Amino acid sequence: MRETPYEREPGYALRYRDRRFHGGSGAHTDRRERAALRALLAAAGHAAGPWLDAPSGAGRMSDELPGPVVQLDRDRAMLQAAGPGRARVCASAHALPFADGAFAGVLCHRLLQHIPTAVERRDILRELARVSRGVVVVSFFDACSVQHARRLLRRWTGKPRSGRSAVQRSTFLAELRAAGLRPLAVRALRRFVAEQTLVLCQIG
Ligand SMILES: C[S@@+](CC[C@H](N)C(=O)[O-])C[C@H]1O[C@@H](n2cnc3c(N)ncnc32)[C@H](O)[C@@H]1O
Repeated sequence: MRETPYEREPGYALRYRDRRFHGGSGAHTDRRERAALRALLAAAGHAAGPWLDAPSGAGRMSDELPGPVVQLDRDRAMLQAAGPGRARVCASAHALPFADGAFAGVLCHRLLQHIPTAVERRDILRELARVSRGVVVVSFFDACSVQHARRLLRRWTGKPRSGRSAVQRSTFLAELRAAGLRPLAVRALRRFVAEQTLVLCQIG
């Protein structure tokens, strides 16, 4: 299967690290995402062992994870922007270079809205499930939101496409189950307003 590309202009990784979530609505989103992730991690309880942050991007959410963190991203520039101090692996979420059950938990944050097809999402979700022996926290964009309606409106009025995809919550939960993940809790940043939604899952 051809993986959906994630092409960005030179310098994007440093801008993503230093500007995207600093100031304005980005800072609000960052605070809400951290709060949602903390709530789900608290509900999960902390099994001892390493966590995988995939994709880590520039490492924004890695500090939130319990235990030592391995950062994985397909983009070398993103991993460089994440800086030293943690294990960093350049690889695709489609083929994680780790043994089955290698991690106590896996975070997959802000990837799946860039993946337009259910088949590709399912392959990634299966890989996340394979390498976790505990929990997986994964985010998706909920189509039942004002933010998504605005995105559709922009598309219909001929504005440039953002490349983000959203799915109905029930559809995404079914995709999780089909990939061998059991959803335990869902946290939307702002249900029906914002698209961003996080799901805590157990294996099996
Ligand atoms: C929007 S960033 C999210 C980074 C981080 N999780 C966060 O919340 O700030 C999306 C990242 O996904 C990475 N990415 C896209 N497709 C990927 C794939 N198939 N495997 C691994 N990383 C991928 C990109 O390189 C980019 O760093």
